[in-house]
Amino acid sequence: MVSPADAERLKRAAAAAAVEEVQDRMVVGLGTGSTAAHVVQLLAPRVAAGLDITAIATSRATEAAARAAGIRLAAPDDLTAIDLCIDGVDEIDRRLRAIKGGGGAMLLEKIVATLARRNIAIADASKRVERLSARAVPIEILPAAQGLVAAEIVRLGGSAELRVRDGDPWVTDWGHHILDARFADLDDSAAIADALSAIPGALGHGLFLTEIDALYVAASDGVSRQERPIDE
Ligand code: A5P
Repeated sequence: MVSPADAERLKRAAAAAAVEEVQDRMVVGLGTGSTAAHVVQLLAPRVAAGLDITAIATSRATEAAARAAGIRLAAPDDLTAIDLCIDGVDEIDRRLRAIKGGGGAMLLEKIVATLARRNIAIADASKRVERLSARAVPIEILPAAQGLVAAEIVRLGGSAELRVRDGDPWVTDWGHHILDARFADLDDSAAIADALSAIPGALGHGLFLTEIDALYVAASDGVSRQERPIDE
């Protein structure tokens, strides 16, 4: 069992390895969550020392952290390309298919990931899985679509639960709600991803099946890098 302090050390080690890829004049996507937070902390001294980057934050929380760290920010609205994005995952398999959105930021995370020429996932070893499905797939929904999206999830063989905080629906950065969908297995994750994307009012989901190009994963014996298999 890894202690919380050790888990934090591993997250930071994975982030530190990924941050090595950040170079002068890059536009860099900054992920959301406790692992991605280390990226902001590790970039701060390099920016203070003269590293010239523009960052795109994937959530208000990351935006606030990056601003506090002195990192120049731009909005993704007008961008058509981002050089590099570094973000955490909730779980990831050996083909670099991932579930994201534990922090509820998957909608903008996927927009930024899609704009990015290279997406790096960073994780401690606990995030590695043989098969996706231990974690729920978060789906950002227009509140008015809750019944429809929940029914479609059931039709797909899953179950849906509205994410709540302090007894109220969780509200995303964009004013929407989240349904956490559980499926017995995600062996046909591509079909489920396509089906979720097609539901009116389902604005985005946390299945990242093709976006991630590389994974830095930290274990007690060091950080290893895996690039997306070339036959993908
Ligand atoms: C945020 O919405 C998520 O996609 C995070 O990237 C993911 O939940 C990983 O978060 P941690 O690094 O905190 O585990």
